[in-house]
Amino acid sequence: MAVAVYPGSFDPVTYGHFDIIERASSIMDHLIVAVLNNSSKSPLFSVEERVNMLIDVTKHLPNVEVRSFDGLLVDFVRENHAHVIIRGLRAVTDFEYELQLSQTNRVIAPEVDTVFLTTNLKYSYLSSSIVKEIAMYGGDISAFVHPGIAGKIRAKFAGE
Ligand code: PNS
Repeated sequence: MAVAVYPGSFDPVTYGHFDIIERASSIMDHLIVAVLNNSSKSPLFSVEERVNMLIDVTKHLPNVEVRSFDGLLVDFVRENHAHVIIRGLRAVTDFEYELQLSQTNRVIAPEVDTVFLTTNLKYSYLSSSIVKEIAMYGGDISAFVHPGIAGKIRAKFAGE
C-alpha cells in the first residue's frame, strides 16, 4: 500500500493546500496530512484548530487522514510506515528551500522520497501568510479559503 505524508503548518489550510491534498489522495492509497505542532512559529490557530479545519475540508476523501506531529518529519513518516513525503511547488522561489528540505530528509532517512506536485496555476501566488494579512486588514478572502475557514479567520481577527 502506497502511504504518503503531506506535511505543513497549514495555518490555515488554503485552496492551494486543498488542491494538493485532492490530487495526492488520488494517486496514493493513503494520505496522511501532517500538521506541524511548532510553538516557536506562533501560529494564528492552535494545532487542534488546524487539524479540525483540515478534517472538515477533507471529510469527503476516504483515504485522507489528518494528524499532528512534532519533532522530525522523517520520524513521523517512519512511525506511520510511509515512504513518501508530498510537497507542493508554487514557483521557482519555493525550489531552493524545498530542495534543501528533501535532500536533508533523504540523508537522514534514505528510504523516504519526496514527491513534488506543482500547484494549480490558479493558486501559484497563494500562501497562508498572504491570506492572514488580507484578513487582518478586513479584505475579502473568499477566493483563497473554504467559506468555513474564512469565517474562522475573520473571527480570530475580530478577537472572538
Ligand atoms: O508549511 P511549511 O511551514 O512550509 O512546512 C514546513 C515543514 C513542516 C514541512 C518543515 O518545517 C518540517 O518538516 N518540520 C519538521 C522538523 C524537521 O523534520 N526538520 C528537518 C527537515 S530539514
